[in-house]
Amino acid sequence: MVPSRVWVISDVHIDYQENFNILTDFARRGHRLDALIIAGDVTDKLDRLQQLFEVVVPCFHRVLFVPGNHELWIRRSDFSDSLQKFQAIQELCHYHGVQTEPVKIGQYRQVWLVPLYSWYDDQQHGEHSLFVKKNAEDRTDQMWGDFFHTRWPDTLDVPIAEHFARLNEPFLAWNFDAPIISFSHFLPRQELIFNRHYEQEELVKMFDPYPEFNFTRVAGSTRILRQIERLGSQVHVYGHQHRNRLRLLEGVTYVSHCLGYPKERMLGYVHADAMTPRCIWREDTGFCL
Ligand SMILES: [Fe+2]
Ligand SMILES: [Fe+2]
Repeated sequence: MVPSRVWVISDVHIDYQENFNILTDFARRGHRLDALIIAGDVTDKLDRLQQLFEVVVPCFHRVLFVPGNHELWIRRSDFSDSLQKFQAIQELCHYHGVQTEPVKIGQYRQVWLVPLYSWYDDQQHGEHSLFVKKNAEDRTDQMWGDFFHTRWPDTLDVPIAEHFARLNEPFLAWNFDAPIISFSHFLPRQELIFNRHYEQEELVKMFDPYPEFNFTRVAGSTRILRQIERLGSQVHVYGHQHRNRLRLLEGVTYVSHCLGYPKERMLGYVHADAMTPRCIWREDTGFCL
């Protein structure tokens, strides 16, 4: 019997035609029993997202998706705010059969795939923030596209990260009777930002290509970590940083497998092994990390 498999990728950024081709070529290779997790940052254009779904969804048993920050940009659109666009994305997923709720796959061995909506807490939202101070002038507000291209309704009375975390609450109470792979676009813990424990003090000072941009302000939120803990995830997949990681922390294996921009691959920020989705689970052998 052919085993089903779980493949993961994020930050596909398909406005680069090369990236669109990488994912669609991979999809067409025959994955009828497989699941594909796309952990956000596909495109900010809904018609382009639809084009990808039209090619990829029929190639897999299941395709799962959570929006990243780029999907919620409302430039070049008629949406009045980013939550209205989020709703339109949900409807597009529903129409194309893209899974946005937990799903169990496999027959003789099974695994749950659990999407977690998320956003980042910046330092103004203290306890959940992943903020680390940098030794340079912080011009993140002027350099980060989200601050120009997203808009939140005036009626929203909680931090946007809290709003998205609340959307996951109904799923957290489900009865998960097999190991869990959860996924989010944003980072759930500060350690994952840095690839070695000393990078924060040493490498950032020496080699940081953007000393005035502080990614930690827009990286993620520990609200995601709290939900991973409540679920009891064995593996958590995330994206957003365009730095690929595999790290075991407190019993959870964290995987980041971003395709990223062509230029980032050329410069070696994103390694060549991310040129196709990564297989992290197989029905015949279980987790393969
Ligand atoms: Fe991205
Ligand atoms: Fe992102």
